Amino acid sequence: MTKKFETALVQGGRAPTKSYGYVNPKLTRGSTVLYPDMATKLATGKRRLEPVEIYGTLGNDTHFALERMIAEIEGGSHAQVVGSGLAAVTVPLLAYLKSGDHVLMPDSVYGPTRNFCRGTLQRFGITAEYYDPMIDPAALRALFRPATRVLFTESPGSHTFEVQDIPALAEVAHAAGAKVFMDNTWGLHHFQPFRHGVDVSIQALTKYAGGHSDIILGAVSVNSKEDWLWLRDGALEMGQYASPDDCWLALRGLRTLHVRLKAQEAAGLRVAHWLAEQPEVARVLHPALPSCPGHEFFKRDFSGAAGLFGVVFQPE
Ligand SMILES: Cc1ncc(COP(=O)(O)O)c(C=O)c1O
Repeated sequence: MTKKFETALVQGGRAPTKSYGYVNPKLTRGSTVLYPDMATKLATGKRRLEPVEIYGTLGNDTHFALERMIAEIEGGSHAQVVGSGLAAVTVPLLAYLKSGDHVLMPDSVYGPTRNFCRGTLQRFGITAEYYDPMIDPAALRALFRPATRVLFTESPGSHTFEVQDIPALAEVAHAAGAKVFMDNTWGLHHFQPFRHGVDVSIQALTKYAGGHSDIILGAVSVNSKEDWLWLRDGALEMGQYASPDDCWLALRGLRTLHVRLKAQEAAGLRVAHWLAEQPEVARVLHPALPSCPGHEFFKRDFSGAAGLFGVVFQPE
């Protein structure tokens, strides 16, 4: 029997026997790990791809509990927690791309992701080209070059809220041998990335997972051992680390995600419908309303809405 989402949230990441009877994982802080002997240290050191305590930067049981939970919510095989939502964008891009590569970015992408492309990626000889998030598959196909290794998506887009046809765009990317990355922050739980052709799903846990405006955290999920290998190694090479205190708070916040998402969806829709009736408003960009570009993909691919949406005002 598959667990209901709310049950998965209450049970996720818990290992009561490991934490000696406490219901929730303990908050662990630490850097150096002690081993009984050299042989154990050497053998443990080789297990970096597993949730094993080796040294602080590789994560501890608090990180691993949250990673199990995020992988479960996203429907992937593995998750890597990183220090911020922006790091969840930059780390997989840096870990996967190399000099000379080309990446396709939606024009509606989160601003700091664009800054990263213009700054770091460009400095390392990686070219970002922007595409209309509502592009059709044939037009997207024409943008692919031999060096295109990543189709980046963000659905709905930041500020303009275009909902992308992810399965159709992913098919084009895969046929061209590229990976599909998606910033799925808005769609946490409501959009199952790996069922729709995404290879790498990005979450700013700062937002819906944290839920209380008091943590900064990100996660990257994948759904294969092959993708886990380059992602995990890249994150470790870059010294990526997240505070266990923030991980513990995120885990605690996630227990109530289900009720919070429902309440935010209802409140957001009420305000969106009200705004749509106001004479000063030209258009409401809420994925659940027909006035939003890509509303048909929202209806097809999402199980619900988050609270965030945009509004276009009439000119003065
Ligand atoms: C879509 C999206 N991705 C990533 C981020 C970055 O998250 P953080 O603030 O944790 O760096 C944000 C933050 O607003 C966001 O809205």
